[in-house]
Amino acid sequence: MGVEAELRKIGVVGAGTMGSGIAQVAAQAGYQVVMRDIDNSFVAAGMEKIRKSLNKAVEKGKMTNDEKDQILSRIRGTIDLADMADADVIIEAVLEDRGTKKTVLSSLDAICSPRTIFVSNTSSIPITELAAFTKRPAKVCGMHFMNPVPVMKLVEVIRAFQTSDETAEVVKALAVKMGKTPVEVNDFPGFCTNRILVPMINEAAYCLMEGVATAEAIDQVMKLGANHPMGPLELGDLVGLDVCLNIMEVLYSEYGDPKYRPCPLLRRLVQAGRLGRKTGWGFHKYE
Ligand code: CAA
Repeated sequence: MGVEAELRKIGVVGAGTMGSGIAQVAAQAGYQVVMRDIDNSFVAAGMEKIRKSLNKAVEKGKMTNDEKDQILSRIRGTIDLADMADADVIIEAVLEDRGTKKTVLSSLDAICSPRTIFVSNTSSIPITELAAFTKRPAKVCGMHFMNPVPVMKLVEVIRAFQTSDETAEVVKALAVKMGKTPVEVNDFPGFCTNRILVPMINEAAYCLMEGVATAEAIDQVMKLGANHPMGPLELGDLVGLDVCLNIMEVLYSEYGDPKYRPCPLLRRLVQAGRLGRKTGWGFHKYE
């Protein structure tokens, strides 16, 4: 019997793009899910995203209305962290900010059973550092989902220096149960995906800033010339330019290598509130 068979309830902290996507795939895998955010309006927006995504699947004939309703009935929204005190695994997908993550992890540590595993979906903060915010470091692990979560197959699994073998095994089995392919990578800044992907987006921003080509042309060359499903600037808009800038800052400060310096254009766009799809305008404009 797989280790994941013992898991029943999954807590997801954060109902944003990543949190709602994670809650959706966990519920689709048959788990009871509690999705928490700090405000009811954020919880409602997360539930709406999930409903829309499942409606699309119904329209495409990939699931029945009944299946959709069952999946939705397994997800409970809340603003109270205590509602996940009895969860078997809690996946945090809150703001990419050390202070926020520390508050969430240490609060959970105080209210959850000692057997609960804590997982972080951080895209750049060392898991070893997050594990040290708790009194259960052996039960903390990284599980880095890709955007859009319901579609992308990869989950990077990152062990903190303190993570036990048993915890890593449970987390990998959970990823498989959620329909994902876990790939283990080590606890280095940006892990593997973002260390490769985000500097590419940053370089595309330099190309735009220096007038090498238009935004449309930059995206087109990578789609037609490298078979990428979307161009690097479109991808930056999907991920969020604030998230991209944050990851570049982490890579730059951790390695001190000028190859990771954030592009000034990227910084300006973030300062202007042009964060990509979520604000309707980033490198490109959206309806
Ligand atoms: N939720 C649910 N399903 C979605 C979706 C979403 N948000 N977005 C797209 N889909 C589904 C569509 O319904 C469609 O399903 P079918 O094949 O069953 O019809 C399928 O995905 C393909 O979508 P589209 O036909 O609309 O568009 P597309 O073929 O251009 O694919 C894409 C869209 C999947 C986003 C594709 O462009 C792609 O793979 N882009 C690259 C994404 C990527 O690199 N993600 C990683 C970002 S890095 C990251 O996430 C890490 C980090 O920490 C920053």
